Amino acid sequence: MNPIDSRIPGFYRLTLHERQDLIADRLQTPASALRRLLDAGGLTSDIANNTVENVIGTYALPFGLALNFRVNGTDRIIPMVVEEPSVIAAASNAARLARMSGGFFASMIDTQMTGQIEIRGIENVSESIRLLGLARAQLLELANSAAPGLVSRGGGAKELEVRDLGRGMLVVHIYVDCKDAMGANLVNGIAEAIGPEIARIARGRLGLRILTNLCDRRRVRAECRVAIAHFADSKGASDSGPDPIAAGRQIAIAIEEASRFASIDPYRAVTHNKGIMNGVDSVVLATGNDFRAVEAAAHAWAAIGGSYRPLAQWQIGDDFLTGQLEMPLALGIVGGTLRVHPTAQWALSLLDVKSASELCEIAACVGLASNLSALRALATEGIQRGHMSLHARNVAVTAGASPEEVESLARLLVEGGRINEVAAQSLLLEIRTLALKGQP
Ligand code: MEV
Repeated sequence: MNPIDSRIPGFYRLTLHERQDLIADRLQTPASALRRLLDAGGLTSDIANNTVENVIGTYALPFGLALNFRVNGTDRIIPMVVEEPSVIAAASNAARLARMSGGFFASMIDTQMTGQIEIRGIENVSESIRLLGLARAQLLELANSAAPGLVSRGGGAKELEVRDLGRGMLVVHIYVDCKDAMGANLVNGIAEAIGPEIARIARGRLGLRILTNLCDRRRVRAECRVAIAHFADSKGASDSGPDPIAAGRQIAIAIEEASRFASIDPYRAVTHNKGIMNGVDSVVLATGNDFRAVEAAAHAWAAIGGSYRPLAQWQIGDDFLTGQLEMPLALGIVGGTLRVHPTAQWALSLLDVKSASELCEIAACVGLASNLSALRALATEGIQRGHMSLHARNVAVTAGASPEEVESLARLLVEGGRINEVAAQSLLLEIRTLALKGQP
């Protein structure tokens, strides 16, 4: 698939079918094929039945597209699966702001997963550590012989580390480059393959053999900057006085202060990080990856220094507000559920990623964008206003508004301060009566 322009002004105003047609057209795929993939979640009960146990059906979630993203100089249309209103719009809005200053930049800090082999009942721990050190090369060779396919793709076991847990317990960490796989099965297979030999060498009893989801050697860093002047014509600046640049600066300062709040208060940091995970998880889900693993790693990393910290921070420097995010992220583009979920496969082809690292980089940028949007809203007009207009659109649709009527009905609902179906139906009647009389 060729790189495509991720700016599609007015996309949100199109009907669902028009959006599908537009995307199909851009990707040069038949719209009917796209509809088949996306209607009802794309997963048949038959596929589901072969994926997990005791299946009685499937459970669909909204699949939307975040726009305006430019990551490392390339435009990306972002597939997002999420049930929470505002998340996709918020990410797209922040991406539009970041794009005006060059977009997002992201890279992997390292790409190794970690397997743990626990050894118990060791009598002479320092001697066991010495013996394991001597056997390093032989153990790595044994590990790699358990994953020949991975080794042929350039991955495999790269390093061993022995950690003393006290009470006669050692844990051996084996670091594995899993290339384009998330790697849980690969790492678990390797850990099980080398476990008995490690126990023999360490003269102890073999305990657990499993990856750790705290993949702190597979981390991603994302950053972006927004010219302070560009906040001037963004949401929240309009009521801030006659000087738009000063208004933009006020917003940037408010975001920086909100970021500082998260860095000194773990209660705030958790919510700050939840906003980041709104973006990250939506991409993780859309691409068929393990969101529980991603969540476990993210929060463990946030607390790694002994107190819970924000995964992203924002700072003003010169005429820009700069944001930086760093987190562990283990995603795959091959293997796992991905292989069997047609919509996840399509999401990956839409993203046009060539490696798991590229996918991690993009997901991290979506997390950073979500964070920027949340902080901007919180630090200016508050979060409820945006939520209310989306809620009003949902109520308008439920009340039976046509796609052409949704926007105006939603606006009237918000203005009236009563956002419920009864109010929506009576306003809809008024809109239609006026339309019949030829009045706007
Ligand atoms: C809501 O899903 C996410 C936010 O609470 C994030 C935040 O407070 O930064 C808005």
